[in-house]
Amino acid sequence: MSAGKSRARQDQTGADAPTRIRVALGDRAYDVLIGQGLLARSGALIADHVGKAKCAVVTDANVSGHHLATLRDALSVQGSFAGAEVLAPGEATKSFPALAQLCERLLQMGLERGDVVVALGGGVIGDLTGFAASILRRGTRFVQIPTTLLAQVDSSVGGKTGINTQQGKNLVGAFHQPSLVLADIDTLATLPARQFRAGYAEMAKYGLLGDAAFFAWLEQNWRAVFARDPAALTHALAVSVQGKADIVARDETETGDRMLLNLGHTFGHALEAWAGFSDRLLHGEAVAIGICLAFRLSEELGHIGNNSLARVTTHLTDLGLPTRIGDIPGGQLPNAAALLQIMGQDKKVRAGALTLILVRGIGEAFITRNVSRDKVRDFLAAEIAAVRP
Ligand SMILES: NC(=O)c1ccc[n+]([C@@H]2O[C@H](COP(=O)([O-])OP(=O)(O)OC[C@H]3O[C@@H](n4cnc5c(N)ncnc54)[C@H](O)[C@@H]3O)[C@@H](O)[C@H]2O)c1
Repeated sequence: MSAGKSRARQDQTGADAPTRIRVALGDRAYDVLIGQGLLARSGALIADHVGKAKCAVVTDANVSGHHLATLRDALSVQGSFAGAEVLAPGEATKSFPALAQLCERLLQMGLERGDVVVALGGGVIGDLTGFAASILRRGTRFVQIPTTLLAQVDSSVGGKTGINTQQGKNLVGAFHQPSLVLADIDTLATLPARQFRAGYAEMAKYGLLGDAAFFAWLEQNWRAVFARDPAALTHALAVSVQGKADIVARDETETGDRMLLNLGHTFGHALEAWAGFSDRLLHGEAVAIGICLAFRLSEELGHIGNNSLARVTTHLTDLGLPTRIGDIPGGQLPNAAALLQIMGQDKKVRAGALTLILVRGIGEAFITRNVSRDKVRDFLAAEIAAVRP
């Protein structure tokens, strides 16, 4: 995996030029720019990459206080600011009612098909806004300006958009690729530490699923990443985004390799759903536990025999992420049957068979449908029993 392929030193304005990763999807190809000060230059960057167009901004009430003014000013300089819609923060905003209201607001702002919807925020805003753009006037372009580590490293790239329903997470949505992604690492300065840590789980995932050298780099350098050291953070983001871009270019709509990106997610989603998509367990925290469960099940099934599991759990524990079901705070734990039932709703279920992403070692994930539900239930029951006092 290579990254930072076109890291010029400075652009025409004298500012540090961003690292550019290309997501190679033919006529839907786009750039992911990673660097500092991008928000203040976003008007010009959007005009350069997407062309002159009106831009409607969608954000949430936490992010708007920190970053909306910078974006509005940058767009206004270009004469392209069409308005902003500020939504309630949190997973509940990824809903049918919020989607309907957002579409109405974007139309009220006079957005036409050639215009652009800009998502300024974390994965919640990115997923909802991308879905709204995909159906607005049968398809409007959109730009992602991710402001959480999770969104910069994962959700802003690859074109998966959607909302949650009562049946589960992300069950209604569309593949709709953005036209540009601006990952401004300066925006992470205002991100709460717990959110940063949760996003790191998705970053570590890229090493664990296909790039052992990157995981080893993270083991050595995670403190610099957490200190938001610009060089370390940019490098880690660039390797992660390149990893995702490579997989998305091979399998845009997740019929094969893209499923590898779900390492830790089948278990993680079930735990998240059980916890009610609440602050009790953030998405990235659920993924961290899910990754460890995938490694532990892989060990139990004889796929890994060396110290892989210990390395993963040590690393995630060192930086403060949960690694076991019993680490979920708040007392009551789930039972195995309930988790298995939720896992049955997973979009990767085929003919009733669970699709699991397991590993043969660090950096060697594979897709399997050969683990029976009984085996998974017994494994989960043992996991839960092991952590009960
Ligand atoms: N589309 C995909 O491929 C994909 C991939 C992974 C996750 N997701 C989705 O992403 C969502 C989770 O995303 P998330 O973790 O970014 O959550 P989020 O969007 O809820 O953001 C987390 C919290 O941080 C706040 N915040 C965001 N940026 C901030 C900043 N710079 N400063 C201060 N506060 C800030 C938000 O207001 C929110 O309270 C889930 O819905 C998940 O399903 C999608």
